[in-house]
Amino acid sequence: MNELDSLVESATQLFAQSATPADLENAKAQFLGKAGRVTELMKGMAQLSVDEKKSRGAAINVAKQAIEAALTARRQALADAELRVQLKAEALDVSLPGRQRGQGGLHPVSLTLERIEGIFGSMGFDVAQGPEIETDWFNFTALNTPEDHPARSMHDTFYVEGGTPEAPNLLRTHTSPMQIRHAVQHVKKHRAALDAGQPMPEIRVIAPGRTYRVDSDATHSPMFHQCEGLWVGENVSFKDLKVIFTAFCRTFFESDDLVLRFRPSFFPFTEPSAEIDIQFQTGPLAGRWLEVSGSGQVHPDVVRNMGLDPEKYIGFAFGMGLDRMTMLRYGVNDLRLFFDGDIRFLSQFQ
Ligand code: PHE
Repeated sequence: MNELDSLVESATQLFAQSATPADLENAKAQFLGKAGRVTELMKGMAQLSVDEKKSRGAAINVAKQAIEAALTARRQALADAELRVQLKAEALDVSLPGRQRGQGGLHPVSLTLERIEGIFGSMGFDVAQGPEIETDWFNFTALNTPEDHPARSMHDTFYVEGGTPEAPNLLRTHTSPMQIRHAVQHVKKHRAALDAGQPMPEIRVIAPGRTYRVDSDATHSPMFHQCEGLWVGENVSFKDLKVIFTAFCRTFFESDDLVLRFRPSFFPFTEPSAEIDIQFQTGPLAGRWLEVSGSGQVHPDVVRNMGLDPEKYIGFAFGMGLDRMTMLRYGVNDLRLFFDGDIRFLSQFQ
């Protein structure tokens, strides 16, 4: 084998040993670069005669072309190999089952709310929504809650920016401000009839929504849900409250022998006031009295703040915790489960 053949041979070998494009470019430089071996051979022709240059030059060119061909072939081989690796890494197994789109569902507290709206709707109650950022007036003052009432303190209520020092804005601590808001709207709507001495259609409404207090443990969350109920007319009595609330609870808990107890209590905006307790006769909670709602006859001052004459109009209100109703209905013992967003818990209600 002559010198040029062995040069081609060693270039081809070195290219074959180059495992990466970078190695290959280095190997190329050793032969075809400025100081490469082929270039050196070209330079070495300076001393030769014209005839010798011709034949020697042609021979070197043949070798150079052979080296270039080997380089091109190796480049292509490396590129092909890289592509194969990439295709393998990104391979799709088209025989795998597809990913299913998850089925969404209503949150258990939303399910409770739907039930409550359905039951009270069937008894002629409207559903109203109110703001979560309230004024001091609607949340406390209009509801006859005195300045020094503990519920108004900084560590019971979230105060927010806006409003004035005398009348700060706050996150509503209960849904009761909706008693005033809704009644005022209702009275406004029927103002003409009232002024003409005609009877006003009764106010019968529930107002569910989020409420806030500075409170957090297994049975209290800083954000929770309540549902207010209000019934105002010329001829309603405590008996009506008892009848509708008993019917509601028995339907809600699907338990005809459920017993209710109206336990005397105090709220600034109702007089008399009562806590409503329920007792199941069967099931895991049987025999225990369970508090589900505050209630009472709307205080005359509050009736006045609704724009109505307390000598003529009488009302009953209640406010129940939706989270608590949900816990009792489904036997959930930790309120925080409702707010953790754990799909394993939530999917059990679908
Ligand atoms: N707002 C009261 C509370 O949050 C409940 C209530 C509502 C009591 C309506 C009486 C009448 O505790």
